[in-house]
Amino acid sequence: MTGSTGEADPGARSDAPGTTEGPAQETAGGTAPLRAPAPGWRIDADVVVVGSGVAGLTAALRCAAAGLSTVVVTKARLDEGSTRWAQGGIAAALGEGDTPAQHLDDTLVAGAGLCDEEAVRTLVTEGPAAVRRLITTGARFDTDAGTGEIELTREGGHHRRRIAHAGGDATGAEISRALVEAVRDVRTSIRTVENALVLDLLKGADGAAAGVTLHVMGEGQHDGVGAVHAPAVVLATGGMGQVFSATTNPNVSTGDGVALALRAGAEISDLEFVQFHPTVLYLGADAQGQQPLISEAVRGEGAHLVDADGVRFMVGRHELAELAPRDIVAKAIMRRAAEQGAEPGTEHMYLDARHFGAEMWETRFPTILEACRSHGFDPVTGLLPVAPAAHYASGGVRTDLYGRTTVPGLYACGEVACTGVHGANRLASNSLLEGLVFSERIADHIAGQPG
Ligand code: SIN
Repeated sequence: MTGSTGEADPGARSDAPGTTEGPAQETAGGTAPLRAPAPGWRIDADVVVVGSGVAGLTAALRCAAAGLSTVVVTKARLDEGSTRWAQGGIAAALGEGDTPAQHLDDTLVAGAGLCDEEAVRTLVTEGPAAVRRLITTGARFDTDAGTGEIELTREGGHHRRRIAHAGGDATGAEISRALVEAVRDVRTSIRTVENALVLDLLKGADGAAAGVTLHVMGEGQHDGVGAVHAPAVVLATGGMGQVFSATTNPNVSTGDGVALALRAGAEISDLEFVQFHPTVLYLGADAQGQQPLISEAVRGEGAHLVDADGVRFMVGRHELAELAPRDIVAKAIMRRAAEQGAEPGTEHMYLDARHFGAEMWETRFPTILEACRSHGFDPVTGLLPVAPAAHYASGGVRTDLYGRTTVPGLYACGEVACTGVHGANRLASNSLLEGLVFSERIADHIAGQPG
């Protein structure tokens, strides 16, 4: 790997991103770079990671551990991506009697025949060790008080208890905390640039990635448009749920990584496979933006979906009933609501978990309990109105098993990537695992490149 002064070929800069004025134009390779002033500041590194969720920070930590000078740029603060909103957990064959082969089968079934089997095999085989490394990094998962073993729950599409969780229903927040702390640890010497919206990919004369341009908004060491020059660029920008009127995704999930990759001429695939989470708290027909998620783990622990007459409409529709894959449950909710006369836009059903009792709600699902109560619903005493909302982009920037995109030097991992593991429909809690496994593979691949 080269030193920390990698530079894009000046000959390629006449139309390089960030240097053009004027409206973006259609070109043979896609859409031209964004209109922006020339970069006013510059950082040089071996690797620039764009995004600071589980995928981005795992890639950065592993690159830094391999001795690569690493910069993380992120659109808001380090802990503001989608990862910290993940509730249910992280799926891996960790439990007694469970195997990667069973995890593979469940993933392929949920993916509706459109998964890349080799990618899924990689995910489920390397997953358990990747989770253990995450624990070594500092993430604390919930454990059984008696045995000390990691507690595992179930979610839709899983035939076994296979989901590790933390803080009850705050798994993403705990993973984010552990990774942010590790990155901020002075020993990792990772440079970070927060509040930096990525603009475009810089390319060298050979067409390979050479860095990114950014616009820093807000306070920080840098201001305005700048550039990080690096021969390896890792996109880990998350999803695009905010494109939809109602979503579980935070404000930052606006598809920036896919847009950058398209402008850079990278192959994108399966963008039509947007997963709708079946049980998001229904706050009315006009509710917009990020909505409160009611984790599938609530159904995994025994909550029932009922219609307006109190009937469990998933029973008899699928062998897993309420724990059928998400696309099936989401469609069943919409159909049943229509059958019961709901006006378009007002379709919702109800989640009944009153039988959990107050203590279980308070200890196992404290985050969800608080969110429901803050909107005037108490799941201890009443039903929760729930409806599907946009949740996860299964497609994205096409990659191979090392996270390589079709643009040399440009890698992608996490929700922005399309590794092929999700097919048409992601299996619950496979996304944190995908972020971990493939970001590690990317870091190892970059570190193994000749200098
Ligand atoms: C959930 O907790 O239901 C969401 C987990 C996921 O999307 O994998």
